Amino acid sequence: MRPALRDLVRETELSVHDLVYPMFVNENLNSPREIPSMPGVSAFPLSEIGEEAKAANDLGIPAVLLFGIPKTKDARGSGAWAEDGITQRAIREIRSRSDVLIIADLCLCEYTDHGHCGVVHDDVVDNDSTLELYGLTAISQAEAGADIIAPSGMMDGQVKVIRESLDDAGFEHVPIMSYAAKYASAFYGPFRDAAESTPRSGDRRTHQMDPGNAREAFREMRLDVEEGADILMVKPALPYLDIIREARCTFDLPIAAYNVSGEYAMLKAAAANGWIDHDRAMMEALLSIKRAGADIIITYFAKEAAKLLGAK
Ligand code: PBG
Repeated sequence: MRPALRDLVRETELSVHDLVYPMFVNENLNSPREIPSMPGVSAFPLSEIGEEAKAANDLGIPAVLLFGIPKTKDARGSGAWAEDGITQRAIREIRSRSDVLIIADLCLCEYTDHGHCGVVHDDVVDNDSTLELYGLTAISQAEAGADIIAPSGMMDGQVKVIRESLDDAGFEHVPIMSYAAKYASAFYGPFRDAAESTPRSGDRRTHQMDPGNAREAFREMRLDVEEGADILMVKPALPYLDIIREARCTFDLPIAAYNVSGEYAMLKAAAANGWIDHDRAMMEALLSIKRAGADIIITYFAKEAAKLLGAK
C-alpha cells in the first residue's frame, strides 16, 4: 500500500492535544530529583514546577495533572487544603508562567502520615468524614486557580460532595474529572515511591476495584455521572483497554485513561535493556489507548510523545 493511501484510511491518529502530563511537586526538594523506578520522570521543587509545566505546554501539551508532596504530614492530611499548601502554591506558580490547563489531583494519601487516602478510624478509612476534607481541598485548589479537579481517593460520594462544595464556593464552572473506574492495581508501585504515598499498613483494596470486575466499573461510572462528573477516567490504561472501550460506548462524557507509573516503568526497563524499540513501543501503546476509546491520555510519556508527534 502506498503511504498516502495508508494515511488516508487510517482510523486512529494520536494527537498532542490528547495528552496530559502528570507532574510531581515536592516541598522537600531544592532541585529536581529523578524517580528511580521512573527513568526520565522527576519530582520538582516549587521553584522549577512552573518552568516544567511551561516546557510541556510549549511542546503543545494542553494540560498537566499535578500531584503535591508536602514537607509535613499529619493524621488528617491538613496540608491538602492549606491555602499555602504545596499544591496550591504550585498551581499559582504554574499559572503565573503559562496558560496550560491545570488539573489538580485530589487525594489525601500524599498528605497523611499513615499514607491512606482519608481519615482513619479503628484501622479503616472513614468514608464520610473524609468527604468533608475532600470538599475543603477542592475549594482551596479552585481558589488557587486549578482548571479541573480530579478526585482520586475513591471514597463513595466524593464527586457529589466536591460538586456541591465547588458550587457553593462560586466555582460552578470548574469541572470534575473523576477517577471513576480505578482498579486496585500492582501498576501503581513506582508512583507510590514518587508520591511517598504507600500506606504504612494495609492496602487500598477496600476502595479500589477488583481487577476481575467489569460490570462494577460501569456501576461506579454511572454513579459518578449522576453525582456530576464531567470527565470519566479509567485507570490503569493498558491492562484495562476493554473497560475504556466499553466506557466510550456506554457514556457520552469524555473518557480519560491513565497510563500509570508501572506501565511506564515496564517499557522503560525493557528499552533500557535493548529488548524493545522504545519510541515505537511508546507510540503503539498510546495509540492503542486512543483506539480503545480514550479522548484524553494521561501519560508520563507526554513530553517524549509530543516531541515525536511534532517532528512528524
Ligand atoms: C492516589 C493516586 C495514585 C495514583 C494516582 N493517584 C496511587 C494509588 O492509588 O495508590 C497512581 C498513578 C500512577 O501509578 O501513575 N492519589
